[in-house]
Amino acid sequence: MNRENRDEHWMKLALELAKGGEGWVEPNPMVGCVVVCDGELISSGYHERFGGPHAEVQALRGLDAERLSRSTVYVTLEPCAHHGKTPPCVDLFLERPVRRVVVAMEDPFAQVSGRGISKLREARIEVHVGVSRAESRALNAPYLKRLETGLPWVIAKWAMSLDGAIATRTGDSKWISNALSRHQVHRLRSRVDAILVGSSTVLADDPMLTARLGPEEPIARRATRVVLDRRFRIGLESQLVRSARDVPVLVVVDRESTRGQAAKHRAFCEAGVEFLEFEPSLARDSRAGLERMLREVADRGGSNLLVEGGAEVLGGLFDAGLVDQVECYIGPKVIGGKGSLRAVAGMGMSEISKGFGFERVRWESLEGDLHFSGVLAKCPSETLGALE
Ligand SMILES: NC(=O)c1ccc[n+]([C@@H]2O[C@H](COP(=O)([O-])OP(=O)(O)OC[C@H]3O[C@@H](n4cnc5c(N)ncnc54)[C@H](OP(=O)(O)O)[C@@H]3O)[C@@H](O)[C@H]2O)c1
Repeated sequence: MNRENRDEHWMKLALELAKGGEGWVEPNPMVGCVVVCDGELISSGYHERFGGPHAEVQALRGLDAERLSRSTVYVTLEPCAHHGKTPPCVDLFLERPVRRVVVAMEDPFAQVSGRGISKLREARIEVHVGVSRAESRALNAPYLKRLETGLPWVIAKWAMSLDGAIATRTGDSKWISNALSRHQVHRLRSRVDAILVGSSTVLADDPMLTARLGPEEPIARRATRVVLDRRFRIGLESQLVRSARDVPVLVVVDRESTRGQAAKHRAFCEAGVEFLEFEPSLARDSRAGLERMLREVADRGGSNLLVEGGAEVLGGLFDAGLVDQVECYIGPKVIGGKGSLRAVAGMGMSEISKGFGFERVRWESLEGDLHFSGVLAKCPSETLGALE
């Protein structure tokens, strides 16, 4: 192996380790770190919990200065140079210098942004930046998106039949996918910050939208349940509202609707429901309203938002170019019927060639269901809601 291949090999390991923090570290990035001396792995670590020690601290802990001076450290993100919840990681390298630091990518976070790398170089440590940069960017896509745009990463999820229906003509949708697929969705729910649905889904299915997993699978975070409900139609008796004291609920409404239903509004507030009230002009502008709602989620610290339908909400988000990732479960059933509901409504595309394509595509078979996972390959002409 030449040096380039060796660097990629060790960085791949650091990236794998970093994934252990998924769901636990956000809104911080996932970071992994490995220490290699004389061609051998001598230590490793990753950022495990928000507020906890960073990957470099975990990996360098207990290593003696002499060995470190002969070591190369591989870290998936530029070491921090500021005092946040923990002291600056770059100081660790200055206190006990290493031979070389290999960094996958710079950290665009304003208080770091190249300073960590400069400090290492000023201390005459050899630094190499950019090994597995694309993989590192993909790993922390939600972190990067929130920093760069002020919006969370949007994961659209639905379960559909072989003929693309998410509900029958009567609105029945339970269950299209099997128990294993649904278990995966619970896992996904357990690591996102917010789960979004439309009011018609709440009225039809009365969902709880919480992560329900066995004792051996810890729940990383409790997502805020967000309901788009312009006309304020969902009921006080819904499971969401009844559980709002335990798991947060945010209802996005047109201000006129809450004004017109003051007693119901008060009862919701007393039940612990929060509201995001839009002026009628914003409530009517689907794209602007969706963006404003997403910004609210990010401002509250949210990095990942899972959209669980229905078709109108998914259509609005696709039309606005606001979806980043799709998780689709296909059950081996045919629903048929002109009046059954297709997965994604909205305006849609006029030409097949303009349809959204995907990167990082993965298909897996789940005991008879098919699971598709992919990240949207954003084409410049239509990402910003520029639909015809
Ligand atoms: N198989 C699956 O994976 C799955 C998942 C979810 C749901 N479903 C099924 O899908 C059906 C419901 O889907 P649907 O398409 O009829 O409705 P939906 O998308 O659940 O909800 C539509 C409602 O959401 C509100 N809304 C949408 N966009 C908004 C925006 N930008 N701002 C504010 N409010 C907004 C609107 O309320 P206003 O009318 O007040 O404007 C609209 O009527 C149900 O039958 C359910 O069982 C299936």
